[in-house]
Amino acid sequence: MANKSTQAAMEDFFYRELIKYLKLAEEKRRWNVFNDIPWHEANPSSSEEMAQCTETFCAVEMYLPDFTAKLLLMIRRSRGRAWFHVNWGYEESKHSMALDAWLLSSGHRSEKQRKEFEQLLLGQEWELPFDHPRQMVCYTMIQELATFWNYRNLERFAIDQKDPALTTALRLISVDERVHYNFFRNVVKEWMKHDEAGTVEDLKYVFEHFSMPGDAQIPGYKERARILAKTGIYGPREYVKLVKNPVLEDLGLSKDFEKLENRERLEDIERIDRVEQLKREKIVLTNGSAIPHDSSPLNGLSRYANGNGNGNGSGAHREYSPLLEAMGFSASVMDSLDEIATLREQVRSQAIDSNGEGSRGMPKLDELDHRLMTIGDELSNNAEELRALRAQRVQRSEQQDRKRLKNDRLRGSGPE
Ligand SMILES: [Fe+2]
Ligand SMILES: [Fe+2]
Repeated sequence: MANKSTQAAMEDFFYRELIKYLKLAEEKRRWNVFNDIPWHEANPSSSEEMAQCTETFCAVEMYLPDFTAKLLLMIRRSRGRAWFHVNWGYEESKHSMALDAWLLSSGHRSEKQRKEFEQLLLGQEWELPFDHPRQMVCYTMIQELATFWNYRNLERFAIDQKDPALTTALRLISVDERVHYNFFRNVVKEWMKHDEAGTVEDLKYVFEHFSMPGDAQIPGYKERARILAKTGIYGPREYVKLVKNPVLEDLGLSKDFEKLENRERLEDIERIDRVEQLKREKIVLTNGSAIPHDSSPLNGLSRYANGNGNGNGSGAHREYSPLLEAMGFSASVMDSLDEIATLREQVRSQAIDSNGEGSRGMPKLDELDHRLMTIGDELSNNAEELRALRAQRVQRSEQQDRKRLKNDRLRGSGPE
């Protein structure tokens, strides 16, 4: 258990981290759900499987009131943590808005279906899985990295399905998630400096009892989890390889939660240059107008509301999405999207195929994975430390390659 001076030191740390975090977020990371994503390019012929996966992640993000309110009460006396938490909640709130916007703008779900699903979700309550603030930090750290990979792997799917709207949205969201992970990871590392044994004990306990938020609340979660695993977006294999092992490595711990001794030191400055180049890469945001369209609910009552629509005359009974209106969709396009979503619902209720269990196998990290992680790292409070860690990894893998080559030559099987 942390003593009083540790608590005071951690409080100072949280406050300093909060200020750094906010400055970076305001100056470099803010994005606009209305203007920065090409919603009109959402692909209506993308697969239902992808829509299901998107809806599942959206559902997890929907427990935001519980994530924020319940934890806020636990940490309300910490200025740094409480203020960080509120800002984190704001960033998370945009994630579910963006995923909702895609489900609607691609015609996979209608406004009516969105509302019904929302009611179903919010009727359930998420409870804090751990009752100690430090355990909750460990939990959130793990869950943030898992979420980064959830979105990154879903983005691969969106690229395959030729959907620029979902791809852009997921790219922005996954950078947020990476920055969130780095923040919480930083906090855990700081706690380890003051109370290593206690923090590692908490971490171990959290790993032993970890499950993603929403698994007990979201209707049909088992089937949803099966689809996520089947598509290779997220399953037990991804959890171990992309989340659990990297978290332990980042904290300098072995798989048995022992501290790794004598980590290799960074010596080769040249390798840092390569990482410096990556650091300069930034996500390019599309540049839309900040002024709401005439039909936007931001300008008052919707012109399509209560049968006053000047769209296709069916406005009297249609339930239009305020979100799509704010994004400039016309009544007729919204009508068609609504119809497509209703048809899809009929198809879904008629036939649910369930072929194949398990994951399609672990993809190796590709260049875009590295780029997105690097962007997230460079927008995090501890960018320098993360840069050094990346350089260490590059150095380690080059050493391993050289060793392999030498062994091949000795065996006479490699290139001369
Ligand atoms: Fe999120
Ligand atoms: Fe997050």
